[in-house]
Amino acid sequence: MNQVVEKAHLFIVREFPNIVRDVSIEIVKKGHYTSNVLVMRICNGEDKVMKIIANSHEVSQVLDEILDYHAYLRNAGVSVPNSIGFYKFEPGGDLVEVAQFCGESLDDILSKADDDSCRQIVYMICRDVMNPLFQTSSGLILDIGLDPIPRNMTLFFNGSNFIVVYIDFIPPKINGILEIPEPEDSQTREMGFLRHYDKRGLTLNLLMQLSRLRPDKRDLFKEVIFQEMKHSGEYEVIRFLEETPSINFKFDDKGRIQHQIEKLTGFGLDYYILRDVACEICAKTGSDCSKLEKVFMHTHFSSCPPSHDNIKKAKFEIISMLETTTLNNQRQMSLVM
Ligand SMILES: Nc1ncnc2c1ncn2[C@@H]1O[C@H](COP(=O)(O)OP(=O)(O)OP(=O)(O)O)[C@@H](O)[C@H]1O
Ligand SMILES: [Mg+2]
Repeated sequence: MNQVVEKAHLFIVREFPNIVRDVSIEIVKKGHYTSNVLVMRICNGEDKVMKIIANSHEVSQVLDEILDYHAYLRNAGVSVPNSIGFYKFEPGGDLVEVAQFCGESLDDILSKADDDSCRQIVYMICRDVMNPLFQTSSGLILDIGLDPIPRNMTLFFNGSNFIVVYIDFIPPKINGILEIPEPEDSQTREMGFLRHYDKRGLTLNLLMQLSRLRPDKRDLFKEVIFQEMKHSGEYEVIRFLEETPSINFKFDDKGRIQHQIEKLTGFGLDYYILRDVACEICAKTGSDCSKLEKVFMHTHFSSCPPSHDNIKKAKFEIISMLETTTLNNQRQMSLVM
């Protein structure tokens, strides 16, 4: 038996002795904070996930915040698993999170979804996660945040309806916590805060992460996000999106676009605009998604902002996507001729 599954069995024998006979376990994913996510079906037919936490020691120190965070989201009406619990797994002392299994991950669903399903899913993300969270503050800044990436959400049938569920509570986006370990650099903190606790950054990141998965559906994602923000009265967010250059992108002169990209600093809000410009250009040029992934890879950051060199590499990839258009146009032109 696989070592992780074996370990999980041992854990279940100890913590849930009454259900162990009928349990079946399967590894579904690996995450950044969770070294393994396993799904187990217990004897009453209910599925649970068991997340073995990778950096248990650091996570243990914010356990109270994680439980508070889950409870706060739940009370705010954000769709989350009914309950989460933490266990210490000896020997080794691994920390294990056990939660209700809430269906297939949205990144897997979206990667094969048609127009109607994409539209429906983004509508549900806004209805079940973003809007209830945004209702917790009349301003743009939230006390409690989240990371609006499709792999942090699942699609769940609750017996009568499909709902989107937010499933990731580590690190807890509460009390200004951003990462584990917490970044000290002030520019990094500002960028993390914008992404996780500011309605504008949250919405831009949602659009960007959806577009990253499916650049071909970007216009549709924009349309539903604008519609839902309007519906819930988030006019400041709408104004922000309307003024964001990557959303209002004009595809005219290549030299002008190149100049616009070069001007972006890659820090603060510009950092997110740079990533989103990459999504927009990928969507409009029909360019290879691997170039877009390279942009995301070069611009990834954790304890300090991406280096100038990496920002330069990301810009190079974005500009090379524009070459694709030229190539496509030339190809089309030669076909016409
Ligand atoms: N309650 C749940 N129900 C169904 N699937 C889940 C649940 N919790 C986690 N998963 C699956 O496990 C994956 C990783 O979980 P989670 O986001 O909590 O870990 P992570 O360490 O933050 O990973 P990542 O950094 O990739 O987001 C999710 O993308 C999802 O597919
Ligand atoms: Mg996650």
